[in-house]
Amino acid sequence: MTPELMEAGTQALNKHLGLPELGGESGGREAAYGRVVEPGQLDVTHGSILYLDDIEVSFDGFKALNKLSLNISVGEMRCIIGPNGAGKTTMMDVITGKTKPDHGSAYFGSTIDLLAMRENDIAQIGIGRKFQKPTVFEHLSVFENLELALKADRRARASLFFKLSSEQLDRIADMLKLIHLKSQAQRTAGLLSHGQKQWLEIGMLLMQDPKLLLLDEPVAGMTDEETERTAELFLSLEGAHSLVVVEHDMKFIGELTTRGENAAKKKVTVLHEGSVLAEGSLAEVQANDKVVEVYLGR
Ligand SMILES: Nc1ncnc2c1ncn2[C@@H]1O[C@H](COP(=O)(O)OP(=O)(O)OP(=O)(O)O)[C@@H](O)[C@H]1O
Ligand SMILES: [Mg+2]
Repeated sequence: MTPELMEAGTQALNKHLGLPELGGESGGREAAYGRVVEPGQLDVTHGSILYLDDIEVSFDGFKALNKLSLNISVGEMRCIIGPNGAGKTTMMDVITGKTKPDHGSAYFGSTIDLLAMRENDIAQIGIGRKFQKPTVFEHLSVFENLELALKADRRARASLFFKLSSEQLDRIADMLKLIHLKSQAQRTAGLLSHGQKQWLEIGMLLMQDPKLLLLDEPVAGMTDEETERTAELFLSLEGAHSLVVVEHDMKFIGELTTRGENAAKKKVTVLHEGSVLAEGSLAEVQANDKVVEVYLGR
């Protein structure tokens, strides 16, 4: 969930409880964030949507990321695997501005320097992040969650509590179908299964039309059937979005990397001790002795 969305959810809850609205004309939000950012143009003419180079993050002298470099192409689906503590989540923290590295560079496209931006602003330029734990607004319906996500988009902010246009209604209907929650639209989100909540959160991210989606252990806690459906959902997003998927579920990684149009070209990156240990097709990394030793052979 993005900071913008969190704020929109708080506003919706306040409205629900009859409390005064924050932000808007009175400037609460602007006062909090200081300014409205006009994001730089995303330039992907060189084919790369995300470029990390020589990233180092230390926690009290311990290097959580150590000379980490990664290059993700536009429309690519990249799976990232590796043992607990390898630095996978920390890498996402760096991309989203939650953690500033001690060293290195991080670019969105070829021109947007992520390290020079704040977390709130990065969430606005087309990078969506799904944390491991589902974070939806439990007291709102499925439909209302998607509606909020749509309206939390800065371009639609002015109409936060106004009626949806027919085009917006269509977008929500399409999303409900895509995330398999059409029959649950009026249900309170808090009553959904864990897997359904995960889908709803993914749907909320997609309402904001991110160019790059970062998904941290999206199928953790899902049933086999939910996992299978999630693989299908991600495969359907490929191309239109670039995806970075961190998972321990190797069956799921197998589904993502051996299906879809670009299956032959798909790469898996193995992180270990804060660096890239191996990168290649799933078959290549599975056959890599070092990878078997530190991760797959467990
Ligand atoms: N804020 C922090 N302060 C201190 N150490 C941290 C902090 N965040 C992460 N670490 C450490 O950095 C290392 C990398 O953690 P990270 O959460 O990125 O691993 P991961 O690859 O996501 O692991 P998992 O598969 O268990 O989710 C771990 O040793 C962790 O304990
Ligand atoms: Mg993690």
